Formats: sequence, structure tokens, C-alpha cells
Amino acid sequence: MTQTASSRRPGVLGVHSLDHFCLSVPDLPVAGAFYAAFGLEIRADGAKLGLYTAGSAHRWGVLTEGPRKQLHHISFGAFAEDFPRLRDRIEQSGTLRLDSPPGFDSDGLWFRDVDRTLLEVRVAEKSSPDRKASFENSSVPAGERGAPYRSNAPRIRPRRLSHVLLFTGDIGKTITFYQNILGLRLSDHCGNGIAFMHGIHGSDHHVIAFARSTAPGLHHCSWDVGSVNEIGLGAMQMATAGFGAGWGMGRHVLGSNYFHYVRDPWGSHSEYSADIDYIPADVDWHSSDHPPEDAMHLWGPEMPADFVFNYEATEAKLRS
Ligand SMILES: [Fe+2]
Repeated sequence: MTQTASSRRPGVLGVHSLDHFCLSVPDLPVAGAFYAAFGLEIRADGAKLGLYTAGSAHRWGVLTEGPRKQLHHISFGAFAEDFPRLRDRIEQSGTLRLDSPPGFDSDGLWFRDVDRTLLEVRVAEKSSPDRKASFENSSVPAGERGAPYRSNAPRIRPRRLSHVLLFTGDIGKTITFYQNILGLRLSDHCGNGIAFMHGIHGSDHHVIAFARSTAPGLHHCSWDVGSVNEIGLGAMQMATAGFGAGWGMGRHVLGSNYFHYVRDPWGSHSEYSADIDYIPADVDWHSSDHPPEDAMHLWGPEMPADFVFNYEATEAKLRS
């Protein structure tokens, strides 16, 4: 994928992709083992670990060691020709520009959102897809066996990062910030409890979402796979590796994706996601406020009581 071939909406200014996320974790080998079991490729990058998907050179996630699990930063990708105007917009908004954090040399624009979550905007190739991802729903003719033997079940390897869900102290202020500074657009929301935002140059229904909490934090990262069958196989793959806790399988209402969430060693989650709604660059998505019963799932098991719990806030409080 090259920048010249990427979809873009003319006449508007905004980032095109969620480029990557970065997590501090207390034990890098434990984190690397979790994401490797999930089906990602783990590559050492100095003292950090990079998260990659098979066959892609894009680094979707970075793990760095810290005293506790904590969201380190979120990085967004922008077209090179938009970068100076995005810089001007950030500065004119009164948002304080920061130096890149120690160990993260970059030419990006660093600043904090309304929850003081560290953000970066950098020039990057568009990693948000230009079209809806393929989705397989295959069957076989009568007289043939459709399922492989379990001993031949394929190893599941996600295709790309789809989105992250962050905690925020104020959904309304956060939506306004990400609209005005980054140019994202609101896809759907449920009152001031949860909100989903997409990129203006063609992206999934949400590249970033927010759930209300008392403090910032990462709730989950979501990875695209190609079928419901792959979600089920991924869930089995993780249960076999000792990561059986989570939520799923089910289907979301907002975003429409089929899902299974796997709980990581720190109480946040990684999601296998398939067939999420796609918003092309030339489509104005009708954003709506939905009642709580439509906010989470169309079908599936009941959500675990502690599923939307901000363990980062709890740990920060315990250590303060
Ligand atoms: Fe998700």
C-alpha cells in the first residue's frame, strides 16, 4: 500500500490511521508470550518489543518495560502534505507540544489529550484499509465434509490492528478533542458512556473508542481476522495456551463485528474481530445516540461483571 494509492477525502484535514499503540508492562517476556500466543509476530527493537502481523512490515504495537501495565501512548498516521497544517492546528488550539518521550526518537508531534493520555501524530503510510476487509462465510456442497480435523486446525494469525478502546474521564470533552485536533468523526455513541470514532479518509467503523471511567487507560486492542470460524479457533488457541478468560463469542451492535475478547495478564483484553463495518472516504456516516441495550452485543454470553473495569486506574490509586 502506498500513500499515492490510498483513499482520502478531499478538502478536509485529519489523520488517516491509528498507526500503533504502546503499552508499558511489568514483564516483557510475559507480554511477548501472550501476544505470540494470540497469533502476532514479536520482534525485538532494542529494549522494546514490536507487535507485527504475518506478512506485514507495519508495527502495530510496541511493548516497553515499566513498573506496571499502563497505556504509554497512541500514535496516529497522517499524510505528509497534511502534516504542517495538523501541526498548526495543534499549536493554535493551545495544546502544548511535547518532546518525544525518552527512548522514542521520532519526528512526530507529541501532545496530551484531555485525560493527559500521550498522543503522537506522525507521517506514515495509511494503515487503515481503503476498503472493507474480506470476510469468509464458506460452506461445502452436500456429500462433503466441511470442518478440518481438530488436529489439523490452522493457527490463527490476525491480519491487522483494527482499533483500540481507551478509558476517559469525560466522553463529551474527549469526542470534541479528537474531532477538533485529529479530525476523527463520531460514528456512534451510547449517551456519555461509550463512543466510537472513525477516520475521515476511509477506515473501520472505529479506529478508536472510549468508555467512561475515573482515569485513562487501555481497555482493549482489537485485531482483524477473516471469519467467525477464525474467531472460534483463536479463542481455542488462547484457551489452550492458558488464556481462557474473556468474553465471547458474540456479535456487536455498534460496529457489527463478531468478537471474542481474551483477557491479558493485566486485566485488559485483546479482541479477535471479524467483519467490522467500514466507512469509505466518500460516505457521511449517520452518527446516532443508541440506548444501552444496543451499545454492546446483539448476541453472545452475558458480559462478565468486571469486563469494563479500569485496572490501570485501580493500580494507579493503590500506588499513589
Ligand atoms: Fe473492540
